[in-house]
Amino acid sequence: MTTATTGRTAPAGAVGTARTRVEGRAKVTGAARYAGEIPFADLAHGWLVLSTITRGRVRAVETEAVLAMPGVLAVLHHGNAPRVETDYVGMLGVPDPTAAVFQHDRVPHAGWPVALVVAETPEQAREAAESLVVRYEEEPHDIALSADRPDAYPVDGHMPAVTEKGDLEAELDAAAHVVDVEYSTPEEHHSMMEPHAATAHWDGGRLEVVDSNQGTTWVQNELAQTFSLDMSAVRVRSEHIGGGFGSKGLRVHQVSAAMAATALQRPVRVVLTRRQMFSLTGYRSPTRQRVRLGADADGRLRALEHRSVNQTSTVYEFVEPSAGVARVMYDAAAHRTVNQVIRLDVPSPTWMRAPGEAPGSFALEAALDELAERCGLDPIELRLRNEPETGPVSGLPFSSRNLAACFREGARRFGWADRDPRPGVRREGRWLLGTGTAAASFGAGALPSTALVTAEPDGTFTVRIAAADVGTGARTALTLVAADALETTTDRVRVHIGDSDFGPAGVAGGSMGTRSWAWAVNAAAAELRERLALGTGIPPEGITVRSDTTEALQSLAQKERHSFGAQFAEVAVDTGTGEIRVRRMLGIFAAGRIVNPLTARNQLLGGMAWGISMALHEEAVRDPSTGAHYAPDLAGYHVATHADVPRLEADWVDDPDPDDPVGIKGIGEIGVVGAAAAIANAVWHATGVRHRRLPIRPDRVL
Ligand code: MOS
Repeated sequence: MTTATTGRTAPAGAVGTARTRVEGRAKVTGAARYAGEIPFADLAHGWLVLSTITRGRVRAVETEAVLAMPGVLAVLHHGNAPRVETDYVGMLGVPDPTAAVFQHDRVPHAGWPVALVVAETPEQAREAAESLVVRYEEEPHDIALSADRPDAYPVDGHMPAVTEKGDLEAELDAAAHVVDVEYSTPEEHHSMMEPHAATAHWDGGRLEVVDSNQGTTWVQNELAQTFSLDMSAVRVRSEHIGGGFGSKGLRVHQVSAAMAATALQRPVRVVLTRRQMFSLTGYRSPTRQRVRLGADADGRLRALEHRSVNQTSTVYEFVEPSAGVARVMYDAAAHRTVNQVIRLDVPSPTWMRAPGEAPGSFALEAALDELAERCGLDPIELRLRNEPETGPVSGLPFSSRNLAACFREGARRFGWADRDPRPGVRREGRWLLGTGTAAASFGAGALPSTALVTAEPDGTFTVRIAAADVGTGARTALTLVAADALETTTDRVRVHIGDSDFGPAGVAGGSMGTRSWAWAVNAAAAELRERLALGTGIPPEGITVRSDTTEALQSLAQKERHSFGAQFAEVAVDTGTGEIRVRRMLGIFAAGRIVNPLTARNQLLGGMAWGISMALHEEAVRDPSTGAHYAPDLAGYHVATHADVPRLEADWVDDPDPDDPVGIKGIGEIGVVGAAAAIANAVWHATGVRHRRLPIRPDRVL
């Protein structure tokens, strides 16, 4: 293992070498400060009060007693909070008032924010918040998700809700083998290590928010809209981030902190508790999915239908596009995919790592395994026979599609050739053993970004970009990219990120962060290098080049752009207790050029570990009578821990993106895609029983 600052003398070639994080020392020594611990003079602390009912109205907030408590400065609620814009347009072009708190007396779900108590210390704020009496008028609630509700309706989201070609029923009738199965996935939560936290204050006429988020430009834009301010009147900083996974955009902590900072004219910090996060920061909606496959005797698909329905809140229409994955993976003469939602009295769901693909691939790839069984075909062979030439729905060429290479390499390394296809025949004491596989894909997009690269008079370089390192190692990756483009060594490059003042940049989301920022950094650095080659001296303020990738991205040819992967799992199922142990997993990915093998492998392994969690553990359960979660914390909501995660291996095949200046595709999300299906397929191979409802809990196995 090499480090970022030693041992390199070659002028180029940093990309592709394994590097520890440039901020690693700062993180492990505590020098790196997170949003909830950055010091501010004269800081006040806000504590949110959440509704104890699931649906209804706030009749009264009895502030008097609380305002008399020690240190209490203010209580904000719908009766006195500043009015804000509730219909601002979010990233998907849909109004999202989820974070616009205290604007009305309605309670749309359990755990809705009804007040913010601000005090001199967090302890005083908390005590007062817990003492605050709020009176409600309760109404009956509806939280029942099911596949056959008549009020389900299609929603486009970031892709069309429905795609359709051919005569599905006719092709199913003509098929030699048919699979028609329903799957369900539960409500899942991001559970990142660092809870949401923000400090807001007014600084020289600007609203400044120090936050933990996945994009300072994103939060800057949405705060500006919410408070009807010019973008230039809002600055958002977010330097170190302990995970986001889709949850860290504009949320109530920034908005309520900004309201309180405005009212009190001093800095106000709002930190969410783990329990509050369960109703305030989004989650992956539960899904109900139906997959119908029809194949010829030789396993070639004639018909493919994938339908999904998810819940959303009455506040915001969010679609979990689970049926989208079928549009990329497999073709058929008749092909239909449908994403629908049902509005319930639940919190607004949001993106969560591989939104759509994670639950969608569970259903589709498990159904493929069932079809392989019907056809008497090896599940890898079935997939290879159905590799499409072009995008099954779009008809567009793939920028590159190396799924088959992933399966070949994975099968070789996993020892797939020795597999006895029969289910339920391998026993080791009380354990039944099985292996399974599944395919993965995730979009390889890019977002417009700007970067500033400065040549300093001392021969070093400074990169500034409003990137977010949510734990992926993005800052380190950008250091490598910049060093190569500048033809220098990484120890001469400093990368500053997480500040909206650096100019607009894309989010750490959709697996597009590092790719989008690297594009901008590479462009600015390459232009700077050319300028320096002219040999004019460097003035004291340095020479700065600014790039903007907006035009370059618009001129990209229309293609299907995705990463691909093959997941393999071996499980042991305890026939006495129903316990499932994953014994090993292997993932082989075709995911563009790998910038930093060390942190890239971490991303992929983290996704695969999350696949174990998804397959076996994670499930947020609501009490139908109260509409609230039973145990909204990390004791009640099980995520896989070290003891659950065996030896995992992740590797990749060569797959540079032909249209990306650095060859990057993006790797943040594909590690989780297909992982749960590979495990579920392995459980079938072990036991002979298909589990179509996640998580596969011991009580469901027995
Ligand atoms: Mo990811 S769900 O796009 O942060």
